[in-house]
Amino acid sequence: MAGRIPRDFIDNLLSRIDIVDVIGERVPLKKSGSNYTACCPFHNEKTPSFTVSQTKQFYHCFGCQANGTAISFLMNYDQLHFIDAVEQLAESVGLEVPREGGHDAAQDKRKPLYEVMERCARYYSDTLRKSPEAIAYLKRRGLSGETAKTFGLGYAPPGWTHLQSATGASNDQLLSLGMQIRHEEGRIYDRFRERIMFPIRDRRGRIIGFGGRILDNGEPKYLNSPETTLFHKGEELYALYEARKAAVSEQRILIVEGYMDVIALWQHGVRNAVATLGTATTPSHIETLFRTVPELVFCFDGDRAGRDAAWRALRATLPALRDGRDAHFAFLSDGEDPDSLISGQGKAAFDAFIRSALPVTDFMIERLSEGLDLSGVGGKARLAKEAKPLIETMPEGIYRQLTIRQIETLIGARLDVAAAREETPPPAPAPHAPTGPATPAKPGTGTQRRRAEKSESLLLRRAATLVLQIPAVIANYDESRHAPVADTDGAALLLDLIKQVRGNPQISTAALLEHFRESPVFKGLSKLASAPLLPDNHEMDADAAAEEFINILRKLRLLAERNRTGPVPESHRRGLLGIGGRRLRPPEER
Ligand code: UTP
Ligand code: MN
Repeated sequence: MAGRIPRDFIDNLLSRIDIVDVIGERVPLKKSGSNYTACCPFHNEKTPSFTVSQTKQFYHCFGCQANGTAISFLMNYDQLHFIDAVEQLAESVGLEVPREGGHDAAQDKRKPLYEVMERCARYYSDTLRKSPEAIAYLKRRGLSGETAKTFGLGYAPPGWTHLQSATGASNDQLLSLGMQIRHEEGRIYDRFRERIMFPIRDRRGRIIGFGGRILDNGEPKYLNSPETTLFHKGEELYALYEARKAAVSEQRILIVEGYMDVIALWQHGVRNAVATLGTATTPSHIETLFRTVPELVFCFDGDRAGRDAAWRALRATLPALRDGRDAHFAFLSDGEDPDSLISGQGKAAFDAFIRSALPVTDFMIERLSEGLDLSGVGGKARLAKEAKPLIETMPEGIYRQLTIRQIETLIGARLDVAAAREETPPPAPAPHAPTGPATPAKPGTGTQRRRAEKSESLLLRRAATLVLQIPAVIANYDESRHAPVADTDGAALLLDLIKQVRGNPQISTAALLEHFRESPVFKGLSKLASAPLLPDNHEMDADAAAEEFINILRKLRLLAERNRTGPVPESHRRGLLGIGGRRLRPPEER
């Protein structure tokens, strides 16, 4: 099992990165007062309710309640595991992630594999520089040295057994990476020979596979890495790493079919294109792409095979097509591909081609009506029958309504489709989060404050909210005078929070929260961290917060002295966040 990542390291890491940069790279943020806002990337909305607090290093959506730290954001947005999210952040600031005691076996095994892939790529690009024939080929295809460098292009020379000595890797490693093949008779040889090499990177820029193109006409034209522990074709997209920056600024990604298409487009200044890896477009590809941009344009060959591939892409797209997202389908004329179009006719012609793309619903209806006689009852019935199951995969929203209406017009009758499934909220970031709904804290209004004073539990919660959101509130805390009596879970948790801040007074809300990621109270604390401290989202003054904090602690001591002469009543033992399976709710709401 994995050795834990030391807490100190997470604190240190979160103090070096800025959540505004991490999120800003992926979602366009607008400054608004002391916070940043955006339309929430985790649910469908037109007016921004997603806010990022630089002070707290915490994000929160008032619409769907998604919230968390920079680590949570990467976990949810880039769909990374906790460890990968931490590693990615660490890498961005040049830190190595340490482990307590043992090591993560899987991670330990993968890490050297990435290095081997990196060394293979270096070997291929070194070899390219010494291979006039390969250089001439790339020149003939119009590529500059700079483009070749951007994509890390290389050349695998003739010969069967270069890689091992060139990389110093073991046969086991090269075999498991698909870089070598074991012959039936046991002989081991290099998979890629006499090919232009295209390194395939994952979203973090690590090389996970290669595509290799033959120089002349030969079979197969392209040879690709097989599926390995690092490489999963159904999830990865060629050049997403390189294209992400341009794509985010243009809010659009083009999906083409070939490596060379992506590269030729780049060479001509179209830098937001990615390619599938010789496989069909999967729902996982679509989800990844829509997490990056709201608009996809698929570019397919105009022939039968291209239209069929486009149809598969459409089917994968429909379930992801909520409002605010958009997809188009562009079809090339016979024998043309994006590379030949832009290389032959220039960028203006390519831009015009992209503008000619069909809206997703038009393509869908066009294809469904193909070969049907819609003037007769039979054709109409057939269209309704084929359309229904497809529409039922679409989420509620404008595309679904539009498609239904268009088809109803064509068939001249009502189309009876099942109601759309509810949009599922984004997955909770914590694997151990308690189940059951938790009511967000709503402190601040007059009646609520009066209510709070009646309840130790609410006082504890308010105090915890203050420490979490403004850790500096403990500045005037004096253990002998203020420490809460830790005879309830809630009081113990508050003490724990105070202790963490005393150990690291500069700690941010986010870093403090990360201390509790594996605790059952993580989700509850996350809610407290995003609850408004004052009504109407007024900013709370740090001194006022510190004063209120100490006052609450005083009150708690008074209550404890008054109440604790007998056994602790159940209502008190419930504590702050209902640790031990109980839900986060003040007692009087139960
Ligand atoms: P194409 O045959 O359209 O090739 O394959 P291309 O991209 O135009 O390549 P050039 O211009 O002749 O160099 C499109 C994609 O299909 C996969 C590759 O990913 C390729 O980029 N493919 C194609 C294979 O995996 N194997 C093949 O033999 C051919
Ligand atoms: Mn081509």
